[in-house]
Amino acid sequence: AAVVEHTFVVHEMNATHLCNTTKIYVVNGQFPGPTVDVTEGDTVVVHVINKLPFGLTIHWHGVRQMRSCWADGAGFVTECPIPPGNKHTYRFNVTGQVGTLWWHAHVTCLRATINGAFIIRPRDGKYPFPTPAKDVPIIIGEWWELDLIELDRRMMDGNFDDNPLSATINGKLGDLSNCSRMVEESFILDVKHGESYLLRVINTALFSEYYFRVAGHTFTVVGADGNYLTPFKTDMVTVAPGEAIDVIMVADAPPAHYHMIALANQPPEPDPQIPVFTSRGLVRYAGATANNNGLPVPMPIMPNQHNTMPSYYFHANLTGLAHPERHRVPMHVDERLFVTLGLGSICRGQNTTCKRRRSPETIVVATMNNVSFAHPKTTALLERYYDGTSKGVYTEDFPIRPPRPFNYTNRDLIPPGPLEEALEPTFKATKLKRFKYNTSVEIIFQSTTLMQSDSNPMHLHGYDVFLLAQGLGNFNAKRDVRKFNYHNPQLRNTVQVPRGGWAAIRFVTDNPGMWYLHCHFEFHIIMGMATAFIVEDGPTPETSLPPPPPEFKRCGNNADQTTM
Ligand code: C2O
Repeated sequence: AAVVEHTFVVHEMNATHLCNTTKIYVVNGQFPGPTVDVTEGDTVVVHVINKLPFGLTIHWHGVRQMRSCWADGAGFVTECPIPPGNKHTYRFNVTGQVGTLWWHAHVTCLRATINGAFIIRPRDGKYPFPTPAKDVPIIIGEWWELDLIELDRRMMDGNFDDNPLSATINGKLGDLSNCSRMVEESFILDVKHGESYLLRVINTALFSEYYFRVAGHTFTVVGADGNYLTPFKTDMVTVAPGEAIDVIMVADAPPAHYHMIALANQPPEPDPQIPVFTSRGLVRYAGATANNNGLPVPMPIMPNQHNTMPSYYFHANLTGLAHPERHRVPMHVDERLFVTLGLGSICRGQNTTCKRRRSPETIVVATMNNVSFAHPKTTALLERYYDGTSKGVYTEDFPIRPPRPFNYTNRDLIPPGPLEEALEPTFKATKLKRFKYNTSVEIIFQSTTLMQSDSNPMHLHGYDVFLLAQGLGNFNAKRDVRKFNYHNPQLRNTVQVPRGGWAAIRFVTDNPGMWYLHCHFEFHIIMGMATAFIVEDGPTPETSLPPPPPEFKRCGNNADQTTM
């Protein structure tokens, strides 16, 4: 196994899109950032030099970090941010995973531009499908004109009216406006007729799930989140924030030029406030003439942007490629959690009498089991766990069921009038859940009516979980356990909970440490749809979290340097 070493210089840079110059935050002058390309079993060493005027962490999204949670890079969860002008080295091994993951900044909204692909190649060089001629990351993201730090502040203040200017494919807007010529601004994939391409489709967007199509071509989905899938043929890929979907595309169309499109999937009620976000790229066959032989460049037909069902079917149709070692689905359950994903309202300021209805004194927050997660701002949870000084920082009483039963998805039970007025008063707290080592855990994530406009890509750090089933409406144990796939479920680090539906997962707590769990929509994280799992040490040194290495980034008493 090799050591793969990178230096990431994180800095500000001006970039121009649609005639406007914006200050963005990037790694090594690149947007998206450099690809980390490793072989399973390698050690990764990344030196991060922070030249930004505020703190920063880098998270290796989906890397299991077996017994190395201090390298996970979740700001204020597993480490303190790297202060401006400082360096930090991440060092970890990549084992037991093959396929596509990604990396991103994990404080504030910085991941919109500080991100890149993380590719893990099989040790023997063999894929369970014909070796592609080439593989290509397709990073679907967003272009924000608003400064990302400002965006974060606004969202923290309860303003959720901001939108990106456009979608991006590998950093390009694919726009046809007057001041930017299409060809200059689009991502171009050059192909040769008859060859096959492994497209590693990653959604790095803060706000939207995306539909992705290439005119005249179909895909075979072969992997997701660093695990193989049973080959699944489709003409459209759906990718939610946090997900990475591997597809094979064979260049089998008549040699010509073809458009590709990434279209943001929007809430069902057409909201005139929300513009359509797309990015358009080009597939260009070798030998095709520049003007496409005088013919129009075919455009893929996209679904209605407000139709969320294609996403539901896409996700529910995928199954894992049964693997004798990886697919040991736990058949018994030691601990069951039923977790509702919702919204609530809290009072801001002191001594205000917030009524139920939204008033200037109330702020809308996102919840799991009616608790809104309060992120520590001056200390890291892992540091407190190591030191045994959690008092006043976090408690271990994350509710394993919602506080009281209600019908989660029946809109008729919501009083008429603005949705905000139906919000339950809630509170902010840093409540974690502790598990013994080797516990078999089942979680049902239940979306609620209050989340009516969004799906919830729930991401658990440090684990791949078996996704046993997804469904619409209320989860009904008697009826729905029959749908559980114990034979070849997908192994995922990000699980799509459909809008107005549920998802059931299982995993065994075999990786001790501190692990963040959150929705991968940025506004949901900021609003508090998060918690963290503590997994206790096992009986032996090999099953325990080692003491922190010297590079573990503590906050110590220098809390000041970590604030933005
Ligand atoms: Cu992609 Cu908590 O992260």
